[in-house]
Amino acid sequence: MKILILGSGGREHAIAWRLSLDSSSSRIFIWPGNDGMSGEKLELIDRPFDQESFTSLVTKLGIDLVIPGPEKFLYQGVVDWCLGLDVPCFGPGAQASSLEKSKLFAKILMQEAGVPTSPFRDLTAALSRGMEEVNSLLKEFRKPVIKISGPSLGKGVFVCDSVDDASEVLRKLAQAPQPGMEDGVLVEEAVCGKEVSMFFACTNEAFTYLGSAQDHKRVFDADQGPNTGGMGAIAPVPWVSEEFIRDIGERFVTPTLELMVKRGTPFRGVLFLGLMVGPEGTNLLEYNIRFGDPETQVILPLLDGDFSDFLLCCARQEAIPKLTILPAAAVHVVKAARGYPGVFGAPIEAGQLITWRDSEYASAKLFFAGVKRSKEGLVTNGGRVLGFTAWAPTAAEAIRNCYALLPECKFQGEHFRRDIGQNL
Ligand code: GLY
Repeated sequence: MKILILGSGGREHAIAWRLSLDSSSSRIFIWPGNDGMSGEKLELIDRPFDQESFTSLVTKLGIDLVIPGPEKFLYQGVVDWCLGLDVPCFGPGAQASSLEKSKLFAKILMQEAGVPTSPFRDLTAALSRGMEEVNSLLKEFRKPVIKISGPSLGKGVFVCDSVDDASEVLRKLAQAPQPGMEDGVLVEEAVCGKEVSMFFACTNEAFTYLGSAQDHKRVFDADQGPNTGGMGAIAPVPWVSEEFIRDIGERFVTPTLELMVKRGTPFRGVLFLGLMVGPEGTNLLEYNIRFGDPETQVILPLLDGDFSDFLLCCARQEAIPKLTILPAAAVHVVKAARGYPGVFGAPIEAGQLITWRDSEYASAKLFFAGVKRSKEGLVTNGGRVLGFTAWAPTAAEAIRNCYALLPECKFQGEHFRRDIGQNL
């Protein structure tokens, strides 16, 4: 099977590596990939991406399966392009991608499907009429969270301490509209508790559980400092029981998939639920419509079976084959460049030479993300530069093994968290 993966980060490296282990995969193309990705079956595609070049390349190479990594390809409609080419693509079409693209769409759908989520209000119309109406709507909320509905480059969520704070945030947004506000603005009640990410492979109303993970979003230990794309992850989350998984399937996944089918926009691909488990019970924070980064780097090493064939069957809407989740744990630690995550325009250092031991590990893997080849060798070229994943029978062993490997790959200015997988 010839597979095309779209994207260039650590998640895409992990997908390519995992698929390369399968006997059913023969060639794996990554578009554009990064210069740290290498392997017997892997080939990078170096050309600008648009519908025309995608169509011609998929046809010329005889691609059997397309796997988009980041959501931007799904928003662009890659799955719909593939439909026209009769090539299976593992992901939702552009319309079903609204589950992640539009926070208002997602909240309205959760409400209609009866999926537990915190109370919310659409503020879009009120905001256009003035702050008096906005302030009156805000009074319904104890701890308001303001959200820009559309894609906002990770800058669209404002957790406020009071209604006055929320009002101030909205006043500023009204004065200086930000990306994503064309889709609207909403307020929701904050929920507290423990966060968990749950992954399900779906095709129409059928789904299969792929695993749970916990991302570590803050840049510094003990969840301090600004948010990042994710500084590391562990899988599975130790307190996620069989009963919890069944409950999430019944009360969150099934009603979502059934409603999407009923609306004529069936969901296919990975449904990645961001959940909060706390005193108010379990609430859905958000839908994502793709694999997580860096959650993928810990979910995939624990999946046993032919994953390429599994994804192909899902994309073809055939019966979903069995896949075993190994009774083990995996930990991933990201090494980031000096300056990352670059808040308030702070520069993120690039061009630092990376040194590493080019080895194959029995129960670990080095995944590259923000890197590129230079005359001197591989250099840093992004915020999250690379990360090690280690897996072992227990979480404690996986954590120990992962941290023991970190010194094997280094660059000037690197920083990483020392508490990944702990304090869950
Ligand atoms: N790690 C969070 C995400 O992929 O959205």
